[in-house]
Amino acid sequence: MNWTRKDLTSIADLSAAEIRFILQHSSNFKTVGARDIKKVPALRGKTLVNLFVEPSTRTRISFELAAFRLSADVVNISASTSSLTKGETLKDTARNLEALLADIIVLRHSSAGAAQFLAERLNASVINAGDGAHEHPTQALLDTYTICEAKQRMDGDLRGLHVAIIGDIQFSRVARSNIHALTKLGAKVTLCGPPTLVPRSLESLGVTITHDIDSILGSVDVVNLLRIQHERQRKEYFPSLGEYTALFGLTKERARQLKSDCLIMHPGPINRGVEIDSDIADSGRSVILDQVTNGLAVRMAVLYLCASVPSA
Ligand code: CP
Repeated sequence: MNWTRKDLTSIADLSAAEIRFILQHSSNFKTVGARDIKKVPALRGKTLVNLFVEPSTRTRISFELAAFRLSADVVNISASTSSLTKGETLKDTARNLEALLADIIVLRHSSAGAAQFLAERLNASVINAGDGAHEHPTQALLDTYTICEAKQRMDGDLRGLHVAIIGDIQFSRVARSNIHALTKLGAKVTLCGPPTLVPRSLESLGVTITHDIDSILGSVDVVNLLRIQHERQRKEYFPSLGEYTALFGLTKERARQLKSDCLIMHPGPINRGVEIDSDIADSGRSVILDQVTNGLAVRMAVLYLCASVPSA
C-alpha cells in the first residue's frame, strides 16, 4: 500500500491495512536494532523536536532513540523549560519550532486533540505521543506488535485472540488506542475494572465489559494491566488502593488462573503491588520490557513513514 499520512494523531483514524503496514515496517526496523551498528540513514538531514508538555520516560526516550537510529537530528523540549511557562500558546511554540525548520514534532500534551490541532496547522509532521485521555497511538502500535510477535501473528490478523484490558479505562489514552487497534485487527477485547472507571458507554467501541476480573482470567490470551491515572481524576473513583488491588489487581493468586501461554502486559509506569504483583510483573510470562524494546522499532517505522509524506 501507499502511505499517505504526514501525521499520526490517532488509531481511530487508521484502517486495519494501515495498522498492518506500520507493523510490517516495524518488523523491518527491529532488525536494525540487532546489528552492531544500529543506525540507518533514512532521516538524515531531518530534524525532530520532542515537545513534551507532560512527563514521560519511555515514550520520550524511545522517540529520541528511534530518531537517532534513523540518523535524524533531535531536540528535546520540556514544558517547564520552555516559553509555555511565560504564557506562549502551543500553536505559537510549534510555529516557532517550524520556523526553525523542524520537520517532525512529537507532542505529548494534557489536552485531548492537541496533536490534531497542530497537525492541521503545520507543514511539519506531527506525531501524537499521548494527548490527555484521548489517544496514545504509538503505545497501541507497540502493544499490538508485541502481541503479534509473541503469538506468531506477524500478518497482523488477531482473529480468535481474546485480550483483557484491566484497570482505569475511562481516563486511559492507552486503553482507547489499544481498543481501536485490537478490534480493527479482529481481536475480541474485554474491559474490566470498577464501574466508575469502566462505564457501559464504552461498549459502543465494540468491546465487552465485565466488573468481575475472576470471570475472565482463565480464558484470555493477553492481559494488559493499566495503572490508575490519578493525574486525570478529579475525584475518588474507588474507596482505597487496597480495595482496588483486592478486587482488580493481578495478584499471585489470580495469576494462577491464567492460561500458561497468556501474555502479561503493562504500558508502564507500573505501580507495583497495586494493579500488578511485583513478582508477576517480572515473571516469565510478562512481556512488559519487550513492549519497551518493540516501541523503538514501531516509532522508527512511524517516523520513517510520516516523514516521507510531503505536506499538502
Ligand atoms: N507508556 C508510557 O507512555 O510511558 P511514559 O509516560 O513513561 O512515556
